[in-house]
Amino acid sequence: MTQKLAFIGFGVVGQGLAEILRDKAEQLHEKWGFAAKVVAISDPIKGALYHPDGLDISTVLDVIKQTGRLDDYPDTFGLIRGWNSLQTIRESNADTIVEVTFTDVKTGQPAIDHCRAAFTSGKNVVMSNKGPVALAYEELSALAKENGVRWGFEGTVMSGTPSLRMPLVSLAGNDIREIRGIFNGTTNFILTQMEAGMTYEDALRLAQQLGYAEADPTNDVEGYDARYKVVILAKTIMNVPLTTEQVACEGISHLTRDDIESAKDQGKRWKLIGRVQKQGTGAVAKVSPELLPLTDPLAGVAGAVNAITYDCDLLGPITLIGAGAGKTETGFSLLIDLINIDRGHI
Ligand code: HSE
Repeated sequence: MTQKLAFIGFGVVGQGLAEILRDKAEQLHEKWGFAAKVVAISDPIKGALYHPDGLDISTVLDVIKQTGRLDDYPDTFGLIRGWNSLQTIRESNADTIVEVTFTDVKTGQPAIDHCRAAFTSGKNVVMSNKGPVALAYEELSALAKENGVRWGFEGTVMSGTPSLRMPLVSLAGNDIREIRGIFNGTTNFILTQMEAGMTYEDALRLAQQLGYAEADPTNDVEGYDARYKVVILAKTIMNVPLTTEQVACEGISHLTRDDIESAKDQGKRWKLIGRVQKQGTGAVAKVSPELLPLTDPLAGVAGAVNAITYDCDLLGPITLIGAGAGKTETGFSLLIDLINIDRGHI
């Protein structure tokens, strides 16, 4: 079956998925039996298009590249312009909503309302926004279940690196007692650059230029971004209802070159670690800089890369290292959610 998609928002991540769908359509179909067509795009700045038979994704990407807007997409019989996000979610014939709006992680909006509207209209949602999962996981997963639809959010932690699906699928049967990891690429990049001799300020500026940092880099350097990811891991992998307020949080902004040098002298390395540990029916969690021995697999992770170690009762520690951000990498996280919706898997 061809899955019909409606994009809500069409920024870097949405365009990343659209480019994959354009460039790999044939291979995805032949090798993985996966086919999708984009029927709608609604973006508050770039404009909105809806055609029940599908839009031409190459033309959409060309128009966006040339003008930054959807207005120059050619008129075809049956094309509708100007629908807002909720109208697109409720009234389009999409099977799945690709929710890629800018989300305020403090409120989770507008993405939480987009999920509610999609689920109650019988539509699946895939997203990489952390807000709705960190803040409304219980409500939204129940609502999706009630309406017989699916909610994919692999990209909320470590972009397309399967930090959520791997423990849920391939490590099923294990009791995962502790999860710890490097969940923020910006801070890991800064620490790596500082070890190579750069100042904190220069390293942060470079991380911003390279596009790793959040719009407000305070979220990266003070550990808030990592804290949301710890909450998502606790809720989805350990099934414990942790809130952000329950996660103690310390960032890296106070670390100096002297701290980095003295760690080196001890044969150790500073890393910003997020960890969550099961305790009874709950969990304790924190985000803070930790001094790791070089023998720890997380100590060897350099640059804007993420890593996660699961402490499994049957298998022992398993570490997964990979991308934590990026246009194509996060675009892929949405694709793998779509493929698994198609397969009827989680
Ligand atoms: N700013 C984040 C990071 C991007 O540096 O890892 C992904 O959440």
